[in-house]
Amino acid sequence: MLNVGLLGAGRIGAVHANAIQSHPDSTLIAVSDVVSDNAQKLATQYHCDMRNTDDIINDPAINAVLIATSTDTHADLIEAATAAGKAVFCEKPVDLSLSRARACLDATADKAARIMLGFNRRFDPSFAALQRAVKAGEIGKPELLSITSFDPAPPPVAYVKVSGGLFRDMMIHDFDMANFVMGDLPESITAVGSSLVDPAIGEAGDVDTAVATLRYADGRIAVIQNSRRASYGYDQRLEVLGSQGQLQVKNVAENTLVKSTTDGIQSANPLHFFLERYMPAYHAEWTAFVTSVSNGTDAPVNLNDGVNALILAEAATQSVQSGLPSSVASI
Ligand SMILES: NC(=O)c1ccc[n+]([C@@H]2O[C@H](COP(=O)([O-])OP(=O)(O)OC[C@H]3O[C@@H](n4cnc5c(N)ncnc54)[C@H](O)[C@@H]3O)[C@@H](O)[C@H]2O)c1
Repeated sequence: MLNVGLLGAGRIGAVHANAIQSHPDSTLIAVSDVVSDNAQKLATQYHCDMRNTDDIINDPAINAVLIATSTDTHADLIEAATAAGKAVFCEKPVDLSLSRARACLDATADKAARIMLGFNRRFDPSFAALQRAVKAGEIGKPELLSITSFDPAPPPVAYVKVSGGLFRDMMIHDFDMANFVMGDLPESITAVGSSLVDPAIGEAGDVDTAVATLRYADGRIAVIQNSRRASYGYDQRLEVLGSQGQLQVKNVAENTLVKSTTDGIQSANPLHFFLERYMPAYHAEWTAFVTSVSNGTDAPVNLNDGVNALILAEAATQSVQSGLPSSVASI
């Protein structure tokens, strides 16, 4: 049985608490949050202790720590929990600063491959099936990957101001997806971005609509499109064109009803947002973590992957600022 301490009892912490308690081989021992009401709520719901973060990290009875705190605390908590001998699962991103993330990788050294990063989309059943098919060569050589990732509505501007910008906050998931599907890092990135959804996002120095084009050393291309607004819901699609065919993952709809009349054909909207769309993926990633810890194997998506996604986010941010392609090797 994996005895788990949960750090951070906010929006995603609540999702993870449920995944921990739903798994037959893990149990939630304690939860911490700097806002004690948040921790108390989860502790009451899941009948576990409420403690402070240091007590959880230093408790020898706790084998694993799940970090679901605000991003600026991740690197410090990864280092502290790893030094205390815990198995670590940490939400993305490692940090907003690439140099801090790299320092975290250095500080955890040979344990970095065991530290799991919460790139939950790798565990979406459809995206995972697409990646397996690419890897098995079912469409020949993948030549063009297209990733569409649109949120239903923009976050509050107060959130945007501390988010690190669209590329580090939102497109980071898509950079990791490109790394997952293509199997290596691109050579260069060219990105463009605009503020079209909310002028206040532009005034805060960020973009809300962006496209990044990734070019690989052998000529393969990936295109990622992000928007902070899609009026019809959370739009999450993948398409890979290969030398011998194509793979496509469509949106998951709220229901499967299709109405066909003389007026046309209508179906339901996509599931509203990430909690609805990816709930099975959050449970599957936790299962993968528990399995890797109990087998003593590397985490299927780890701290190295977290740093790689940040490298691409950094390259895209620089490209938007310079108006030129960014070389990934120079980041
Ligand atoms: N993988 C995903 O799909 C996904 C989705 C949402 C958020 N996230 C990531 O998860 C993290 C949390 O996001 P959220 O939306 O849940 O934010 P949130 O603000 O709802 O929750 C964060 C919680 O951490 C607490 N906290 C901050 N510092 C702490 C500390 N040192 N010790 C204990 N608690 C502390 C805060 O009080 C807050 O309750 C972010 O890094 C975010 O990028 C990932």
